[in-house]
Amino acid sequence: MIKTVCFNKRENCLELIDQTALPVRETIVKCYSETDVAEAIKTMVVRGSTAIGITAGYGIYLGLQKATEQNFKSTLNNVCDLIAGVRPTSVNLFCTIHRVKEAVSSCTSAKEAVERALSEADKIFEEDLAMCRAIGVFGQEVMEDGTAWLTHCNAGALATSGYGTALGIFRTAKEAGKNVKIFVNETRPLLQGARLTAWELQKEGFDVTVIADNTAGSLIREGKINGVVVGADCVTSKGFVVNKVGTYPLAVLCKYNGIPFYVAVPATAFDMSLKYDDEIVIEQSDSKEMCFFNGVQVIPEGVNVYNPAFDITPPELITGIITDKGIIEPIYGENIPVVLGLEKED
Ligand code: MRU
Repeated sequence: MIKTVCFNKRENCLELIDQTALPVRETIVKCYSETDVAEAIKTMVVRGSTAIGITAGYGIYLGLQKATEQNFKSTLNNVCDLIAGVRPTSVNLFCTIHRVKEAVSSCTSAKEAVERALSEADKIFEEDLAMCRAIGVFGQEVMEDGTAWLTHCNAGALATSGYGTALGIFRTAKEAGKNVKIFVNETRPLLQGARLTAWELQKEGFDVTVIADNTAGSLIREGKINGVVVGADCVTSKGFVVNKVGTYPLAVLCKYNGIPFYVAVPATAFDMSLKYDDEIVIEQSDSKEMCFFNGVQVIPEGVNVYNPAFDITPPELITGIITDKGIIEPIYGENIPVVLGLEKED
């Protein structure tokens, strides 16, 4: 299994595969403090919503270690604020912060708080692995042997504890003996599809083909794709899906061409406090990502650049949301809490 996020108990540090160096170099970045962790998330050494959430748990633990008996509760808040500010669209990041805060809330000593934080971070890691495997089991049902699927960005081992949401479905389908062909959007500007998804799928012997993002339309029109499956950073209670920019046009293409468009997420990626698209905060990425390609300037200096990290896909374009609790299909407001096993929404 790819060790995207790995806590090294002997050295008491968090080890992350440096995703900025892939696919050319496989190097490990070691984080010894909450600032190292915040920096790793900010610089995309680790990315992908659930991998960020898992990393954040260990970051809070590392930050709590320097706390004293007098200040461990305020240290917890400061560390959480530091980490929360880095990638605002990831529901899993906020889910982790909430969970670790809850776990530590009844602690009466700094030592106990540190121990609880580590044990909660470990639990978040283990649970993510189990959720990804469950998503795979439900998701592989929609994938017939001999079909071709397109995915966008990286919702794989590198975006999670090591198995993947959207890519986890390909893994489970393969384990079930199905042969599926995978097309991968390169995913400009940071090329998560070309660099990361292609890397991890090739490593495991999948039939994988990278395409430029602007090739997806003609490929779908030519009938060479049977369906699209992507991950998500956030899903609202009404089924609006936030994922890497470029996801929405794929959903439109699927609808127009009559092929399924699936989203694969753990139940923890739902933010039930949000309903509609206008309530969602979309992270804006650095314009430098667009202005330079491989260190070479590709946009004239002074030209305006618009570079949102994510876009929003409305539920009417989505065939189904594949979760660890089952598949939500069709996406009506009431189907979401029913499948997730939550109270019914108004
Ligand atoms: O900006 P990134 O690379 O963090 O974006 C990642 C995605 O959009 C993934 O599809 C999403 O986080 C789901 S990962 C389980």
